[in-house]
Amino acid sequence: MAIAAPVNLSEFEALARQRLDDQAWAYLAGGAADELTLTDNLQAWQRLRLAPRVLRPLAGGHTRSMLLGRPLPFPVLLAPVAYQRLFHPDGEVASALAAAMQGTGYVLSAQASTRLEDIAALLKPEPTRGPLWFQLYLQADRGFTLELVQRAEAAGFEALVLTVDAPTHGARDRERRAGFRLPPGVSAVNLAGAPPAPAPPLPPGCSALFDGLLQHAATWDDVAWLQDRTRLPLLLKGVLHPDDARQAAALGLAGLIVSNHGGRTLDTAPATADALPRIADALAAPGGEPPALLVDGGIRRGTDVLKALALGARAVLVGRPVAMALAAGGAQGVALALRLLRDELEIAMALSGCRTLDEIGPAALWRG
Ligand code: FNR
Ligand code: LAC
Repeated sequence: MAIAAPVNLSEFEALARQRLDDQAWAYLAGGAADELTLTDNLQAWQRLRLAPRVLRPLAGGHTRSMLLGRPLPFPVLLAPVAYQRLFHPDGEVASALAAAMQGTGYVLSAQASTRLEDIAALLKPEPTRGPLWFQLYLQADRGFTLELVQRAEAAGFEALVLTVDAPTHGARDRERRAGFRLPPGVSAVNLAGAPPAPAPPLPPGCSALFDGLLQHAATWDDVAWLQDRTRLPLLLKGVLHPDDARQAAALGLAGLIVSNHGGRTLDTAPATADALPRIADALAAPGGEPPALLVDGGIRRGTDVLKALALGARAVLVGRPVAMALAAGGAQGVALALRLLRDELEIAMALSGCRTLDEIGPAALWRG
């Protein structure tokens, strides 16, 4: 990075802004409509207060845990972010290598601009890497969806993340104002060859959304259908309502990601920090192994990670700051961002008197 190195995640933003054109910036930084949820995601973590604790034994502390049977060196994963070659020519290759170097998990977007086989081949041999997951949307053609799943399984991905909160994009004013289009050379390469959804001409008075695009939208039946057809653990991403969490738990899903898509879908949906405790409560009901609970949206600080764990999450995902670090400095930028976040988490744990992640519970929060 040519400019003074950032000392926290938010400082990558200005560097990324300088590197990206207006269209890519609108796509990356923007959210839906008035961006109230986008802003609230950040503020909701900031509103929470931590309880400092003193004189507790801290020697030998660490940030390690297990997630779906795999070691996780520190409880952060890179959120699936589409088209990363829009932000840096090395795209997903750079973010994946940086994630492996820093021991974070990696979730490859279905709309990645790099072949999934290439990312898996790159990461699998890395000794320090965390979990390697593949995110997908159910494609209109279920046969194509299954082929994609089988490719991810064969390549060595260890879990599937089905994103369920975006059957349609939100009303993305910022993107539309900027006239966002993908530049030549950047595309969803893993979806190449997907049969287009059948689109018969709509009779007058029909809705292009309900009678068009959403004819093929996923339902709970499709989740069960997918579960029956993959040997990989399945997580749902984009759950905010406790009733949806209960339904997911009843299906025996491996995990849930509390997410509002970074404020990019339904504007004025609650911040994830506000939704998380309700989901954790919903899953606390007795019976069976509950799904692993993760959260994303607005995580920018080690203290945010600690708060998420205190509210019941096992790990968090980080989206925009990683893409901005990628734009600012390629693999080096992402590695620095993740290192900063890890250092901040360790500091926050030490000052809250938590030696390990297991010691982070509701008592870590200051209830006033
Ligand atoms: C996303 N997100 C996303 N989610 C998903 O399931 N599949 C995807 O392809 C994408 N693509 C994507 C692109 C860009 C540019 C952004 C900013 C986000 C949502 C992402 O996984 C995550 O939920 C949010 O980014 C988390 O919020 P923060 O960390 O960006 O505040
Ligand atoms: C987005 C899609 C790709 O948020 O999930 O842009």
